[in-house]
Amino acid sequence: MKKPDNPFVLNTYHGKAYFCDREKDLSLLQDHINNGRNVVLYAWRRLGKSALVHRFFEELEDSGAYETVYVDFLSAISMEDAVRELSSAIFERFGKTKSGISASIQKLIASIGASISFDPISGVPSLSLGLNAPGHEEQSLHALGDFLSQRKKSIVVAIDEFQQVSTYNEVHAEALFRSWVQKFPDIRFIFSGSHRGMMSEMFLEKNRPFYLSAQMLPLDPIPLEKYTAFIQSHFEAKKKVISEDIIKMIFEWSRGQTYTVQLICNYLYAQCQEVKEADFHRVKRDVLEQQQAIFANFPKMLTKTQWRVFQAIAKEEPLENPLSKEFINKHQLGAASTVNTAIKSLKKQELVIEDNGVYLVHEVLLARWMAKA
Ligand SMILES: Nc1ncnc2c1ncn2[C@@H]1O[C@H](COP(=O)(O)OP(=O)(O)OP(=O)(O)O)[C@@H](O)[C@H]1O
Ligand SMILES: [Mg+2]
Repeated sequence: MKKPDNPFVLNTYHGKAYFCDREKDLSLLQDHINNGRNVVLYAWRRLGKSALVHRFFEELEDSGAYETVYVDFLSAISMEDAVRELSSAIFERFGKTKSGISASIQKLIASIGASISFDPISGVPSLSLGLNAPGHEEQSLHALGDFLSQRKKSIVVAIDEFQQVSTYNEVHAEALFRSWVQKFPDIRFIFSGSHRGMMSEMFLEKNRPFYLSAQMLPLDPIPLEKYTAFIQSHFEAKKKVISEDIIKMIFEWSRGQTYTVQLICNYLYAQCQEVKEADFHRVKRDVLEQQQAIFANFPKMLTKTQWRVFQAIAKEEPLENPLSKEFINKHQLGAASTVNTAIKSLKKQELVIEDNGVYLVHEVLLARWMAKA
């Protein structure tokens, strides 16, 4: 992978050198996989679930003992989409060997009703996924599972944003996936999701197909000491300076959310030789200003009461009791029952989260922007 100009990367995984810590989570993952356990990796948004899976998969592939398939269900809004995403991930991973397309892949392609087309200029094959007519997803899944379980090496499949499955119109979507997983006990699965509530509902509610079928692995913020060492070493490598105190301020302002810490550090690294507190404040302002256009849409998406409650939570977070007289009166929110209804809806939309008994606005930058208004 190309070396990034700024070591504080903001999109995906760029290799070990730009990845901070997570040693404990990596060894937990390794232990689960080595011992034949499937895993549910879940956390609040942008803490680094996807990057961790990529980091882990790099290690598994390097070990030579495993082959990995990463698939993202974020944009898969139906069972058909989900099967399509899986098929293309498998084709991307195994389809293009040096000697062309293998017989086993050709067989797979035929059995899922897909076809291969070749780019007329580069000759690169790509999968055109008509797929079997809708309704044949179960057969296609089976063919994909068969293909994977016949590989010589152990297979680990990660399905990111897996909670999407619970929103499909097909009533049996969850059950279909569950029986698929059961049919192929040799394949290890990592189910990763950004919707903590939904992930725990899918895996911890008695009447759901996936009930207690995998090990729960919650992801917490990277510890401050680990992040401090990581940030300082990248600054020092360029003869730049950032103090522990400023890193602590960044970490607290970001609520430990990996993405926000990375974002602020990315700017400070680009702009400063020696970071001063004033630089941190300037970068915070700039970052929030850039989000202005997006954030300005929020009041339009909510009712007036919801918006006011939402804003009040941002100002008071971490908020212990949103129904207390003190909170309601201070922000003139009206009747407690109205506030209660608003909070329920905000929580359902995951705009507000309840974490360790306190209420927070899920999006850190949005919280900081609202608190200023
Ligand atoms: N351990 C890490 N060290 C450095 N940067 C990281 C680390 N983990 C994640 N990041 C960075 O933080 C950002 C968020 O990470 P990622 O997209 O993996 O989070 P996520 O939990 O999957 O988010 P989402 O909820 O949007 O799916 C990315 O910019 C990623 O590069
Ligand atoms: Mg992700």
